[in-house]
Amino acid sequence: MKGVWGLVLSLFVVGCSANDGLPVASHTMFPSGFKFGAATASYQVEGGWNADGKGMNIWDNITHERPDFIADRTNGDVADDSYRKYKEDVQILKSIGFQMYRFSISWARVLPTGRIDNVNQAGLDYYMNLIDELRANGIEPMVTMYHWDLPQTLQDIGGWLNADIAQIFADYADLLFKTYGDKVKWWVTINEPLSVVTGYSADNFAPALNMAGIGDYVSGHNLLRAHAKAYRLYQQKYSHQRGKVSMAFCGNICQPLTLSPEDVAAADRCYQFSYGWFAHPTFFGDYHPILRQLVDKNSKMEGRNESRLPRFTEEEIADLAGSVDYVGLNYYGPLMAWNGSAGSIPSRDHDAQVRYKFDDSWEVCPSSWMRVVPQGLRLLTNKVKEEYGNPMVIITENGVSDDGTDPLNDLQRISYYERHLAELRRAIYEDGCNVVGHTSWSIMDNFEWRDGYTKKFGMVSVDYGSPSRTRTFKKSAYWFQNYLAMHKLYQ
Ligand SMILES: *[C@@H]1O[C@H](CO)[C@@H](O)[C@H](O)[C@H]1NC(C)=O
Ligand SMILES: *[C@@H]1O[C@H](CO)[C@@H](O)[C@H](O)[C@H]1NC(C)=O
Ligand SMILES: *[C@@H]1O[C@H](CO)[C@@H](O)[C@H](O)[C@H]1NC(C)=O
Repeated sequence: MKGVWGLVLSLFVVGCSANDGLPVASHTMFPSGFKFGAATASYQVEGGWNADGKGMNIWDNITHERPDFIADRTNGDVADDSYRKYKEDVQILKSIGFQMYRFSISWARVLPTGRIDNVNQAGLDYYMNLIDELRANGIEPMVTMYHWDLPQTLQDIGGWLNADIAQIFADYADLLFKTYGDKVKWWVTINEPLSVVTGYSADNFAPALNMAGIGDYVSGHNLLRAHAKAYRLYQQKYSHQRGKVSMAFCGNICQPLTLSPEDVAAADRCYQFSYGWFAHPTFFGDYHPILRQLVDKNSKMEGRNESRLPRFTEEEIADLAGSVDYVGLNYYGPLMAWNGSAGSIPSRDHDAQVRYKFDDSWEVCPSSWMRVVPQGLRLLTNKVKEEYGNPMVIITENGVSDDGTDPLNDLQRISYYERHLAELRRAIYEDGCNVVGHTSWSIMDNFEWRDGYTKKFGMVSVDYGSPSRTRTFKKSAYWFQNYLAMHKLYQ
């Protein structure tokens, strides 16, 4: 049995049910130099959906054309109005004590048609102003280039299904490196490629294309090609800027249901078909062998003359191998996995041959897709350490929702962060994981995709009934303020 699954035992089978019995972490502080930040994404906070020359994106489109797509029939037209209120946002980040702000650039705001021949100067200026404001207040920008809001004109040519998009994305990345690279040292090309491809396999996210087992592999392939092109471009043209480039990976980290070899292997497949689908090629140049083997086998059984999982060229493999300078990890909660037949044919779930569920004992929260299990974060960082040779890691998202019924009294969020950060210290000090930062999701409530404004991930509440979108600290914001002040005091 591989080492990390031995850790599963100690974390879950022994530890989870008796958390109080675990040894107290010997280190109560993070290493000096550890960066704390908070995160948002353009469509979820900016508003200004058609302001100053911005083009339309796929979330503008789907929320306008299919209001039922969103739980409360809302959209991101105004959202938190951060397009106008960014200076107040920066003051909030500063007063809590964050050292880093992870935000994303709206592609259609800077390139209304998605293409480099039509630059919207007002859009470029908005992000320059935000970056300058952050730096003037001692906060480092971490910039995501793509957080799901594809320009509609690019969707009209097939979006991530069209192989041309890799070069179109690289041209966009070139503009961002050229414009902001002197000031931005942390880049994320693609946020959650696994979520992006869900827009092509199911009805969960825009563009909601329902091409399970086909559209997801093709779009995922082009996301990886786009990332690799942007990474190599940075190395060739902008290495003097001395920044770091990665993706923010998401996925499933799983506890095996039993310790049978087939369930332990299923838990590994659960990881390889999610986080690993995209992370593995950025280290080794190609898909993990288990994906290649299973998708090829099923494609053949389905009578296809070629695999549903596309192949990289030799050149693409060379570009992809070693194409992250650190690993961005988004983590909310884990799953329990076992071997078995799953999903429709064709689909990723069927290819992975993994069944999964939540354990009944796991703490619930308002978002039905996650459970609160802090040990899962330690398990994930250990898995990444083992798979990829202990790379530098930043936890690029981590957080929990509330449903706003007692808007400022978010005790579950305090408990969530306190326990997840404790597990992160264990990962660092006891397991030797090279984790150097953590950006919470999220600094403030925002448009939570299909859940609209019904699920709130902020440590600062936003009043969507007020035209000025008044921001108010929740208890967790004050908790974080104290937590970070202590960290500063002792580091
Ligand atoms: C919205 O998307 C649909 C489907 O891609 C497309 O047919 C339609 O033209 C789009 N609407 C606008 C205003 O771009
Ligand atoms: C596979 O079949 C499709 C039609 O079903 C065809 O268009 C394609 O060229 C074939 N590919 C190969 C590699 O034979
Ligand atoms: C794993 O599950 C698959 C699908 O149900 C089944 O065919 C296979 O026999 C199982 N493997 C083991 C070792 O139980």
